[in-house]
Amino acid sequence: MLETLKWTDSGVLFIDQTKLPTEEIWVTCKKYEAVADAIRTMIVRGAPAIGVAAAMGIALGARDLDVTSISEFRNGIGQICRVMGETRPTAVNLFWAIRRMQRRFEEISGRPIPLVKQALIDEALAIYNEDIATNRALGANGASLMPDGGGVLTHCNAGALATAGYGTALGVVRAAVEAGKKIHVYADETRPFLQGARLTAWELMKDNIPVTLICDNMAGVMMAQGKVQAVIVGADRIASNGDTANKIGTYSVAILAKEHGIPFYVAAPFSTVDMEIPDGSGIPIEERAAAELTVIYGKQIAPTGVRVENPAFDVTPARYIRGIITERGVATAPFSESLQKLGEVKPALV
Ligand code: MRU
Repeated sequence: MLETLKWTDSGVLFIDQTKLPTEEIWVTCKKYEAVADAIRTMIVRGAPAIGVAAAMGIALGARDLDVTSISEFRNGIGQICRVMGETRPTAVNLFWAIRRMQRRFEEISGRPIPLVKQALIDEALAIYNEDIATNRALGANGASLMPDGGGVLTHCNAGALATAGYGTALGVVRAAVEAGKKIHVYADETRPFLQGARLTAWELMKDNIPVTLICDNMAGVMMAQGKVQAVIVGADRIASNGDTANKIGTYSVAILAKEHGIPFYVAAPFSTVDMEIPDGSGIPIEERAAAELTVIYGKQIAPTGVRVENPAFDVTPARYIRGIITERGVATAPFSESLQKLGEVKPALV
């Protein structure tokens, strides 16, 4: 299985996603601040992978705390979690993982410090392993929704690289292929960071899953030509009514799919659902540097000083979504009810 990140005694290791596909380089983050930087600079990216990375970063920072009392430990953990929480605002998995690590700390804070440190490492590893199991389960839940012998369009990278392994949207594609379906993936290149061109194309080719790269503004014509039978994307945060934040450009793809009568699916672990947010208008959207648009591989392509907007995500209203595929089952409209019901399902994975 393609690996994205791993815990080692000398630090957290990441495949550097800013260098793919031309270079396969692993970087070692020896301090929690380096893990936070890796999230911020998108060496590691994708909502579930960000959550796992943050958990490992917290475990690393906690391990290195030079403290003698649990109250000093609590302050230290608080500071580490604050730094992690300031890396990227949209993917709720980040905050979910931070809360889970904090909860674990409170559960075991009465124990000797070395045991607390080990318990936090174990919790981060559990989050890592559960993420892979979750992706396999949601893949199995979504496989029957994929066409056999058709094209599936995806946007950004919601694959192994965006998770601890296997992927969400690409996990569903993988599960369908493993079940014997013939699927051809159309990968949107995903300007400006090119996750589709650089990462989705790379990981599908590694798995011998047929993939055709298109630039973002070709999606409509591919649909009009009958090449696309389903669209599947990941998510960074899903509001309780089903409105879904995902990579910028997802909204346009959803509208195109609706116009062409093509089902549009979202695949995500249930931890991506933020039940505290009633609709998509409450989802914080990260604004990234202008240089992501004006400079490509060191070459300036726009006039110096041009005004730029660079929201990293957009929100697809729930009405465009045919189904939200999770490890707990597939939610369909009305999502406020179906997501609420899935929230009550006891996860079978842990
Ligand atoms: O900015 P990124 O690359 O972190 O954005 C990633 C996406 O938008 C993914 O589609 C989403 O996080 C789901 S990944 C399983």
